Amino acid sequence: LAARMTFTEQELDAEAERLLRALMHVECDARRQWNLPTCRSIAPLTLEINRLKKEKGAIILAHSYVEPEIIYGVADAKGDSYFLSLAAKKSQAPLIVFAGVVFMAETAKILCPDATVVVPDHGSGCSLADSITAEHLRKLKSLYPDAVTVCYINSTAAVKAESDVCVTSGNVYDIVAKLPQRRILFVPDRLMAQNIRTEMKRRGVDKEILSSDGTCMVHEEFTVAQIAEARARFPGLKVVVHPECTAEVAGAADFVGSTGAMMKYVRATTAPYFLMLTECGLVGRLEVEEPGKNFVGGCRLCPYMKLNSLEKIRDVLAAPRPHQVVTLDDDLRRRAARCIERMFELAPTD
Ligand code: 13P
Ligand code: SF4
Repeated sequence: LAARMTFTEQELDAEAERLLRALMHVECDARRQWNLPTCRSIAPLTLEINRLKKEKGAIILAHSYVEPEIIYGVADAKGDSYFLSLAAKKSQAPLIVFAGVVFMAETAKILCPDATVVVPDHGSGCSLADSITAEHLRKLKSLYPDAVTVCYINSTAAVKAESDVCVTSGNVYDIVAKLPQRRILFVPDRLMAQNIRTEMKRRGVDKEILSSDGTCMVHEEFTVAQIAEARARFPGLKVVVHPECTAEVAGAADFVGSTGAMMKYVRATTAPYFLMLTECGLVGRLEVEEPGKNFVGGCRLCPYMKLNSLEKIRDVLAAPRPHQVVTLDDDLRRRAARCIERMFELAPTD
């Protein structure tokens, strides 16, 4: 779509300056340098999106991994999977644009059945969510009938509908520890399953954790050698990792947690350097929101998160195409909602 709205030079200059105040801090984005001309070049789009949002009563929910111009230019809420599912649950908006990946938008639709939920790019999958089907899960469940089925939120609505309780990286350990059953069938992240085993052992909680074979294509690539090399180069370094990483990487870290918890840890910690073993979008957020701190290289890009763009957000807001609209069978949606509601009941409230 060609730009449909016109703005005055003053409006464009003011928008460019607003964008620059945040984006000037982003250094980890090797593809672009944010300065006044680059901010001025995207100002027509962010102004148009923000005007379209008002006209349609829409909100934009953005995961911390998407491009910084989305986070600081047009998002109404930004955060981790748990925070965004709560934001969707609380929302009254008739239209939700989910700048993240499809399973997150499905979760918003499960929680807001009356809203129209759209995705800028319907190809924004996730190697974890795409690793297991409902049929595969039904087979696993039949092998372990006494197990409680716990699904990581990085799963399809159909897998959630087959599960007893959903968890996110922010509450997985507390919820698993609280469940009365000893045997847990955890899907779809094999590496997170190993991290759960370690944490349950550390807490002295007796659980048997079975899992399927999915991995996050971004987080599985981080290595202990990378951590050792960074520690040797940067004395006093703190290593902060996501629980989708391998057990070896998690074991070599100073802190393991969800993207929201990783941000909290950095905010609360004084250290000369931080190595963030996660998607680069989170480092961009920290550079903006914690400008006094030093982040050494090492993050990676999620190709799915990076399918989101301002252009696609503008287009989907202006006129969503059918494949951009999340639709779910009503019975499946209700069953998936039960598993997410169970998470809200069990999750710690702080
Ligand atoms: P968070 O819920 O920690 O943001 O994780 C989402 C995700 O996809 C990590 O790869
Ligand atoms: Fe999925 Fe990994 Fe991308 Fe997160 S970073 S959306 S888990 S592929």
